[in-house]
Amino acid sequence: SKKLLVDVDCGVDDAQAIMLALAAPNVQLLGITCVHGNTTVENVCKNTLRVLQACNKLEVIPVFKGAAKPILGNTINAGGFHGHDGLGDAPDSNAPDLDLVQKEGAVSAMIRIVNENPGEVSLVATAPLTNLALAVRLDPSLPSKLRGLYIMGGNTESRGNTTVCGEFNFAADPEAAYVVLNDYHCPTYLACWEFTCYSKLSWEFCDAWLAQDTDKARFMARIFRHSIEASQTEHYEKEFVTGSGLISCDSYAMAAAVDDSFILESDRYPVSVELTGTHTRGMMVVDTVGFMKKTHKAFIMKKVDLKKFEEMMMAALK
Ligand code: BDR
Ligand code: CA
Repeated sequence: SKKLLVDVDCGVDDAQAIMLALAAPNVQLLGITCVHGNTTVENVCKNTLRVLQACNKLEVIPVFKGAAKPILGNTINAGGFHGHDGLGDAPDSNAPDLDLVQKEGAVSAMIRIVNENPGEVSLVATAPLTNLALAVRLDPSLPSKLRGLYIMGGNTESRGNTTVCGEFNFAADPEAAYVVLNDYHCPTYLACWEFTCYSKLSWEFCDAWLAQDTDKARFMARIFRHSIEASQTEHYEKEFVTGSGLISCDSYAMAAAVDDSFILESDRYPVSVELTGTHTRGMMVVDTVGFMKKTHKAFIMKKVDLKKFEEMMMAALK
């Protein structure tokens, strides 16, 4: 079976990605590490526990708390889209207690788990890359021990969803993105912002998806309502490159980690991230010519098996 370690800022699409992984056959989820991003790291921990609770996996999958802030500067959040609490501000009187979060911190857990399973762990990052950057600074051998790294983040056409040219996960901690893109010399797969927009699912699919008669589907319908309503506003219609639809960004990175045949076509180039610039801080740069003289090339997802994706998403709420 495939061993996965997942780093999240548990907003609604992170929740969808986690549920996709939990439903996938032959996947062993070794742990979930939490980081600031869509909301505070405390909310992220709580949200992750809520998702596990909805899947009957509470106390089965360990949850670790990580960085509360980016390497430099202050946090941003995505409350406008995911809701202030990160999960659509849907009241939950039955939320699990934060005591269930492990005492061990996320960065040490990441290093420990990868070292206990050398060559076997696929690391899936669906959040600002702060924990991953700190981990490689503490253990530079970490990337060489990964089976693969799957990241939702960055952009390829300089279209932003957070700043003019910045995708949220990279814009929320550009320095961390820089460290990860330059120091993780392992097979690296990127689900970038525009790609996720071009690969969106229809609202018809979304309706059928949420209408499944299960507790998981009812949980998803509750936490997703806020983002669905936001998606249909003029601002997001524009931001989503080709109009609105169900864009479960983080689920593409997860699907690629879960199933090796999910990616049908990708570009292979060295990538980095802009750290300065009036409008471009946090923007991903793709070196199609070779100016950066970097040997490590990332796989940039271009085309994926959308039929398989719909099946995996459906299964996530079964
Ligand atoms: C990314 O930003 C977050 O809001 C989402 O969870 C996703 O990881 C999309 O740009
Ligand atoms: Ca995320």
